[in-house]
Amino acid sequence: MKYYHRCLLGLGLAGSLQLASCSSTTTNDNETMTTEQTAMEQTSGDVHSFAKPAEAVAKHLDLDIDVNFDQKVLSGTASYLIENKTGTDQIIFDTRGLQIEKVYLGDNMEETNFELGDEKEFLGRPLTVTIKPDTKKVTIKYKTSPDAAALQWLSPQQTAGKKHPFLFTQSQAILARTWIPIQDSPGIRITYSAKVKVPKELLAVMSAENPVEKNDSGVYTFEMKQPIPSYLMALSVGDLVFEKIGPQTGIYAEPATIKAATYEFAEMDKMLEAAEKLYGKYRWYRYDLLVLPPSFPFGGMENPRLTFVTPTVLAKDRSLTSLIAHELAHSWSGNLVTNGTWDDFWLNEGFTVYFERRIMEEVYGKDYADMLNVLGYQDLQNTLNDLGADSEDTRLKLDLEGRDPDEGLTDIAYEKGNFFLQNIEKAVGREKFDAFLNKYFNTFAFQSTDTDKFLNFLRTELIKGDEQLAEQINIEGWVFSPGLPDGFEAPTSMRFAQVEEAFQSWKSGKPAAQLNTKDWSSHEWLHFIRMLPDGMSQQQMAELDKAFNFTNSGNSEVLAAWFIHAIQNNYTTADQALETFLTNVGRRKFLVPIYKALAATPEGKQKALAIYAKARPNYHAVSTVTLDEMLK
Ligand code: BES
Ligand code: ZN
Repeated sequence: MKYYHRCLLGLGLAGSLQLASCSSTTTNDNETMTTEQTAMEQTSGDVHSFAKPAEAVAKHLDLDIDVNFDQKVLSGTASYLIENKTGTDQIIFDTRGLQIEKVYLGDNMEETNFELGDEKEFLGRPLTVTIKPDTKKVTIKYKTSPDAAALQWLSPQQTAGKKHPFLFTQSQAILARTWIPIQDSPGIRITYSAKVKVPKELLAVMSAENPVEKNDSGVYTFEMKQPIPSYLMALSVGDLVFEKIGPQTGIYAEPATIKAATYEFAEMDKMLEAAEKLYGKYRWYRYDLLVLPPSFPFGGMENPRLTFVTPTVLAKDRSLTSLIAHELAHSWSGNLVTNGTWDDFWLNEGFTVYFERRIMEEVYGKDYADMLNVLGYQDLQNTLNDLGADSEDTRLKLDLEGRDPDEGLTDIAYEKGNFFLQNIEKAVGREKFDAFLNKYFNTFAFQSTDTDKFLNFLRTELIKGDEQLAEQINIEGWVFSPGLPDGFEAPTSMRFAQVEEAFQSWKSGKPAAQLNTKDWSSHEWLHFIRMLPDGMSQQQMAELDKAFNFTNSGNSEVLAAWFIHAIQNNYTTADQALETFLTNVGRRKFLVPIYKALAATPEGKQKALAIYAKARPNYHAVSTVTLDEMLK
């Protein structure tokens, strides 16, 4: 993730001991596991869930909820089909901030006992339900709290249309439990169906098979027939319309946004084709996007069948669509083959970044993908600097025990993960590596995986005892060691070489207006802005601004990068634009570095606090949790 996080606790000895045991591996079978085996592996190995899936595990959820915008509450029932594996007399769900009213067993709804355990910071409370050895169905009647962290309730003023309220969820990493009582671990998969009642003027959509238009009843039903982990549970309600792009793809957005969105994402069908060509058939039927209001805290979220996406990528020139390639790629890496715990987050994100760049290369050419690699490498360097290259949090295999996973999930998983896979590709050649990845996705489809399982697969399928190859691939250096391995060659880009040339001539005195910036995309501009030195004069800032109109750019990436320089150089011409940006946009990746730059001086901090006081109601909890801590 391209944001900085609030605090990283050091990891103690326990971390390194565990590491030692992790790196010792044995080869094993790589056949498709049976459902039974998968379920067996659903142990409570996840330190971020109270569930004990090896004893009793949920298999299917039937959700029946009412969406109340006045009270900001979801209420109804979560009814589970369960498997009691050991004949135990209890099943445990995760909850956080939920009011549990009643729990029933079976089709005849016999009331049963339940207990909510002590509240643990960010984990919430275990809900322990008394069951019988033959219990098949558990129905939980519950209500969410108005400040449920997954939910953002927007007033009409906070939407594009300004007429209707809006709701969306963000469940990853462990927030699903704030809107559904659920076994909230990525190692547990469920199918689901849902019935959602909303105000009649609004449409509801989920990470499932979706309606394409409103109906008169305001009641919508959904079905997700493929088993998914809880962090992919998603719901949004608003004044939404649908427009198709290709036969299998389309866009949901507010009426005021739909036109801009269909233009921007017109190439999503091509991306889907490219992805299928690379790693096999898309397994989720439709692939649609939901364009959210600007307070959405992420760039994108890979909710199956319906990626949630920030409107800040609507740049009018299709220049920020690698984000769509990224979320689409998660349909294989993440949604199909899932990290079993958050310690293995790199298996989701590193693979996805690698895959994203391959899709972009396929559709836009190698020069284009090279630019993304270089920008990603810069992000990685920044994260390494922030965390310290020796930090244990810079290993691919993480140890997040005792911490909110949201804090430990950094750019390391994304970019170091990507460069590790690119390194393997280089060592074995693209053809072999692609065949290997295809086999990996097929072998582990609809299952959870972990670092050891992947490494075993890598050893048996690719390395096959070749010591020289093993040395080149350097598992120990990439996966279990901090920083970047010795000998790693940083990526380069031809298109950026031209940017560097232009930058050098500006530095040697050539007027900005005379630089050759023809046909630059947002990536070239971003590279240029990132190269600008510290301590520029007002005159230099004004010259650049006059020549390139950065302060009024319609491109969110360009704006966010420029504001950092404006803040550091006290370039007050940008103040108004900065304030407008911060009060509209809730994307954490932009907010955190900007507020951080502001907070670096006493005057800046005053400014930050004044803006934050006004802007905070527009941000999702995912962003305010980080910013509250930072601006304390
Ligand atoms: N799955 C992530 C978003 C996420 C990660 C949410 C961890 C909560 C916890 C999504 O696929 C993602 O990576 N989004 C990026 C964009 C991407 C192009 C790097 C983002 O939102 O910045
Ligand atoms: Zn991702």
